[in-house]
Amino acid sequence: MQLPSLPSCSIGDIDSDADSEQLRQRITDAKEQLGDKLMILGHHYQRDSIIEHADETGDSFLLARKAADSEAELIVFCGVHFMAESADILTDDNQIVMMPNIRAGCSMADMADLPDVEACWNELLENCNLSDPASRENAELPAEHGQSYLVPVTYMNSSADLKAFVGHHGGIVCTSSNAAGVLEWALERAGEGGKVLFFPDQHLGRNTALAMGYEEQDLAVWNPMMVPDWESLNASTFVLWHGYCSVHQRFTVDQINDFREDYPGALVIAHPECDREVVDAADASGSTEMIRRYVEDAPSGSVIGVGTEIHLVKRLDSNYSDKKVICLDPGVCPCSTMYMIHPAFLADLLESLVEGQVANRIVVPSQIADEAILALNRMLSIVA
Ligand code: 13P
Ligand code: SF4
Repeated sequence: MQLPSLPSCSIGDIDSDADSEQLRQRITDAKEQLGDKLMILGHHYQRDSIIEHADETGDSFLLARKAADSEAELIVFCGVHFMAESADILTDDNQIVMMPNIRAGCSMADMADLPDVEACWNELLENCNLSDPASRENAELPAEHGQSYLVPVTYMNSSADLKAFVGHHGGIVCTSSNAAGVLEWALERAGEGGKVLFFPDQHLGRNTALAMGYEEQDLAVWNPMMVPDWESLNASTFVLWHGYCSVHQRFTVDQINDFREDYPGALVIAHPECDREVVDAADASGSTEMIRRYVEDAPSGSVIGVGTEIHLVKRLDSNYSDKKVICLDPGVCPCSTMYMIHPAFLADLLESLVEGQVANRIVVPSQIADEAILALNRMLSIVA
């Protein structure tokens, strides 16, 4: 197979491969042959030449739901590794989840690993005098009066073994579309004087807690490379892992100010993985699907500045042609790992399926999946 060449830095070049027509035909033919057995899921950050073949598109929550509800035998996940792992956990054993390119990971998810989280967990239990929810008879119920627990919450952007850790310790998964509801659930189970340990994205944790009315002093950051600041950790309600997304770190308040100067009266929406100051300066904040809906619902003629990955922003601009949708970052801000899903990989994968061969299967070992599904199902059960 010929590997796609890496992108040059102009977004205009991104989907202009000379062989794109041929790839489109190969994918279309293979899809036709596989029929209802196949479902292709595409995250909003995928390039257009992938999205055009997706049966369902969405944010990470919507796609997890689509996978859980699907009866397709073959599920091809066009997104990053943690998303495909979650799809495998949420589907039946007779359903096969694959990725066109299994090297497509998420640098933020890689910022928290199980040994570091376990070490943090043990230190917090001991030094903050908290109990493990796993010690309760039923960790699903709100905390009893006078009990203080440490409840783990992991962002969907995390590996399956961290989701299993969370499931085992009475915690829950969240995505950027349901983080407030999930944190409320976790706080009820933490009880008075209890804490929530949130990983790996400090920004989603901070932005959500502040929007719920908490203050900076209720938040502390855990960095496994630094000596813990026990004063602020003990005083906090939320312990936030130090992780971040390098794509969303690019957005700044200066960009928003410049944008508003260029387009007076324009609207601004930012993904909650952006810094607190950026989210505060924006008119709205939400998951990639919420951003899509915000643009859809904006009055015709609106100009909307968006703080998120460039492929989604460009697509919104072309799909909602009565509005002008502009990326707040004047440079290019692609997610380099989402971009690793090239139509050449998708064509090869589908053609091998037509020949009866499964490639790039994502299999979460059952001892991990059995605990991770507890945390995923808690999320699915509290979110409509
Ligand atoms: P969404 O759940 O908003 O799609 O976010 C996933 C992600 O990785 C954003 O960087
Ligand atoms: Fe991970 Fe950031 Fe890419 Fe989302 S945009 S998949 S958080 S690296």
